[in-house]
Amino acid sequence: MKPFFVGHRTIYLKQVDSTNTYCKQRMDLLENGTVVYTDCQTGGKGTKGRSWEIAPGDAIAFSFVLKNCQPQDLSFLPLICGLAEIVLFQKLSVSDAGIKWPNDIVVHQKKVSGILCESTIEGSSIHVVCGIGINLHQTQNKFEQQQLTYATSLWLETQKNYTMEEILSGYLEEFNQLWKQYQKLGFVEGILPQYQKHCITLGKQVRVLFHQVEKQGKAVAISDTGQLICEIDGKQQYIHHGEASIRGLWGYI
Ligand code: BTN
Repeated sequence: MKPFFVGHRTIYLKQVDSTNTYCKQRMDLLENGTVVYTDCQTGGKGTKGRSWEIAPGDAIAFSFVLKNCQPQDLSFLPLICGLAEIVLFQKLSVSDAGIKWPNDIVVHQKKVSGILCESTIEGSSIHVVCGIGINLHQTQNKFEQQQLTYATSLWLETQKNYTMEEILSGYLEEFNQLWKQYQKLGFVEGILPQYQKHCITLGKQVRVLFHQVEKQGKAVAISDTGQLICEIDGKQQYIHHGEASIRGLWGYI
């Protein structure tokens, strides 16, 4: 039997509303590990109901399908997806790149990429769509027009015009490697040490926005289940991704 790998099948779409929605709607038809990608996304989805649209040629949006996942994968996949991107950026010598927990990818304190993992349940099977958007060619002007104060692109940070194909194939190589490591060793041994090394949230004073209530604390560790542990009012609180927004005391980081 051939080893499983994400990206053994790829589908390029000239334009799509959202690569995540495309995959979710066609889950039955898509083979496990299929990747769908585009550089024009008209109704893209971000976290917390935000949108993630891409004007033609500016960025890459891609999603891949992982079928028959374990319940615990839902907690770890968002972190593994983020780590794969950082490992790729290291190989590309992108300097000062880090992960803002759980999986915003930040270069020189600005967000270059966002990740949205969504799951669907079919009987007793859990399928996950991992969606990644990476800003490639946008200029400062473009972000200013869109009032995206904390956004950046690989072009702005490296003065290199990466093609979406080279970013996609580089990313998939790293993701497959980490996914194998995770399957073999589990999260704590296979992923967590590397993730922690790149997580810029750790050690920082943060604001935690939880159901409209804001608290201040210090991000101290990532738990064995992928939660962010914050010290708030002298107590350790475990924060699950999707449950709260984390911001620095004076801005995004
Ligand atoms: C965030 O808000 O930081 C997450 C953004 C995730 C965007 C990606 S682009 C590919 C995939 N398709 C979508 O509609 N969203 C994700």
